[in-house]
Amino acid sequence: MKKSISVIAIGVTASVGMIYWTWRKSQQMIAVSPNISTEQSQRILERAAPLLRLPTSPEQPPEVLADNAGLRCPVTGRVYPYHDGVLHLLDEVQPKTVTQRTLDTPFTAWVYDRFRETLTRALNSPDFAVEVAEAQRKLQVQSGDVLLDLACGQGNFTVEWAKCAGAEGLVIGLDYSLAMLARATHHINRWGLENVLLIHGDANALPFSDAALHKVNCSGGFHQFPDLPRALSEIARVSAPGAAFATSTFAEGADDPRTDLKHWFKRAFALHFVPLVELGEQLTALGYVDYTWSLPGGGWFGYASACKK
Ligand SMILES: C[S@@+](CC[C@H](N)C(=O)[O-])C[C@H]1O[C@@H](n2cnc3c(N)ncnc32)[C@H](O)[C@@H]1O
Repeated sequence: MKKSISVIAIGVTASVGMIYWTWRKSQQMIAVSPNISTEQSQRILERAAPLLRLPTSPEQPPEVLADNAGLRCPVTGRVYPYHDGVLHLLDEVQPKTVTQRTLDTPFTAWVYDRFRETLTRALNSPDFAVEVAEAQRKLQVQSGDVLLDLACGQGNFTVEWAKCAGAEGLVIGLDYSLAMLARATHHINRWGLENVLLIHGDANALPFSDAALHKVNCSGGFHQFPDLPRALSEIARVSAPGAAFATSTFAEGADDPRTDLKHWFKRAFALHFVPLVELGEQLTALGYVDYTWSLPGGGWFGYASACKK
């Protein structure tokens, strides 16, 4: 009897401790460090506004409100607010898939941010530094570039592109998860990067004018998109002629020996394994050339790139 009471007491104490630790972590996670001034954020909004299109006025650029308040639709007068380092452009959030929900809490976003490298190693995928170097080989991000980091998540690639694009450049990180964007804000502030705009948005309806962007990167996003063909046509629409595109995603190669298992993951968890041969055909149909793909070690994670004609 005494033994079971002790076991229960230890269990309760450990659970309370875990809950407290998780709560403390999530509080730290959403704290935004104040390294970027209000004037700098306002400058970024003004710099980005001509390229942006609001859901309620797809034909005209938005008006920029004073004091970092956000953007106003020139047609309806509706305000799209900017707060906590994020421009909020989602009109309505569609029901999220299982995989989208997984990264949509402060705690899971922190875990992903903290342990991404461990996860990629477990999957036998290259280290982050190698991934960045490989993507940079394809994108050639340089000073002055206007780049979209689609599904930017915790902003790991966004930070790297912002360093390459320099003060003249503009890097836009767009994601569907506010929890992941809070992580991205934290990192952008930590690095003091003044050329980044973070947007709460959806890959299915990119808030940019046609041909607005020089480069698009999408790392780790495609396998979560419920409607990849629609996202691809949006990427093509907003990319300028000559715009480079690079992606990494859970993927399926030609004659992939793991096809059955990969299809099961899609049915069970809405985790898509993007068929890389088909992806090339889709991109070609959308006006891309020079398509390349690889699935290192015949594994789980693949890489692809192309260039808009
Ligand atoms: C695995 S994380 C990748 C984060 C980061 N790019 C990386 O490589 O580590 C996938 C991200 O895709 C985002 N995502 C999923 N569906 C999306 C959509 N429809 N539009 C924009 N982002 C989306 C998720 O919120 C999540 O942050």
